[in-house]
This record gives sequence, structure tokens and C-alpha cells, in this order.
Amino acid sequence: MAQIAVVPGSFDPVTLGHMDVIRRAAKIFDEVHVLVVHNPDKPPARFEADERVALIHASIAELGVQGRIEVTTWSAGLLVDYCRQVGATVLVKGVRSGEDVAYETPMAIVNRDLADVDTVFLVPDPANSHVSSSLIRQVATLGGDVAPYVPAAVAAALRA
Ligand code: PNS
Repeated sequence: MAQIAVVPGSFDPVTLGHMDVIRRAAKIFDEVHVLVVHNPDKPPARFEADERVALIHASIAELGVQGRIEVTTWSAGLLVDYCRQVGATVLVKGVRSGEDVAYETPMAIVNRDLADVDTVFLVPDPANSHVSSSLIRQVATLGGDVAPYVPAAVAAALRA
């Protein structure tokens, strides 16, 4: 049976750090679903969910990421409800630091308790360890150059 992994996140917008995690996950798992999830704890969105999906598709093409990759949105309940719906048994999260591990660990335990869905932590390239969507939004809003941190499609969308 094909092993399906879900890479969830806000992706507002997708960064080179996210793309590194997606590329690594697609090398490990038979199928990867990149899931754009609304996070109520985050500030108002810079991009609508369908725009984020389009930017992830464009970034996959731009960077030549290989593998069976679906990109979609989820706002109908728990993350594990989506996993159950598509038969995914694994969540993949990128962890850049010990802080990320501390933030992600309780969610990983809850998701395993709720639906026996395990979480795999991938360590991205250290070149991207300081990159976050919130930092990108701030730099772009104040007129800085975000090209080193995001796919070209995202840099263009932030300029538009
Ligand atoms: O990119 P983000 O904002 O750090 O991603 C966080 C996200 C969307 C993965 C997280 O908020 C999440 O898992 N939301 C789904 C809601 C859910 O299932 N909660 C209960 C288990 S943690």
C-alpha cells in the first residue's frame, strides 16, 4: 500500500525552507499531500488559501521538485480528519531548532492519540534555518528584498 504523508502548514507564503521539507518528504514517501491549513492563532492572511496553493504549485514546478505531490486546502476540522479521509498515516514537519521541536511535540502527541497518525520531523538545510513566513511578510511589507528566501514566483507575488 502506498504510504501517504501530509505536510501541513499555513504557507503564507511558502518559503525555500518549506520547499526543502517538501522535496525531502517526496523522496521518502510514495505520495505527499501539501496541506494549506487555516491557523486561527496567526495574524490575518497575506494570501488567500487558493493563492497559497497556486504559489506552492508554481514553486514545485520552478524548483523541479520530483514525486507524487498533491497540494490542497483543509478547513473542515482536525488535521487528522484529513489524514483519515485520504488514508495518510504520517505527518511531516520541518524543525529548524529546539524551539520548533518544543512547539511541535505536543501537537505530534495529540495527533497520535487522536488518530494514530505519527509525525516525522525533518531537519531542513541550515541555509534556511532562519527563514519563516512571518519574517518574509515583514521584510516584503517594508520594501526589502525577499528573493534569497522564497521561490521566484512568491517573490513576484509579494511585489505585486
Ligand atoms: O505553518 P503553521 O502555521 O505553523 O502550521 C500550523 C498547523 C496548521 C500545522 C497547525 O495549526 C495545525 O495542525 N492545525 C490543524 C488543527 C488541528 O488539527 N489541531 C489539533 C491537533 S494539533
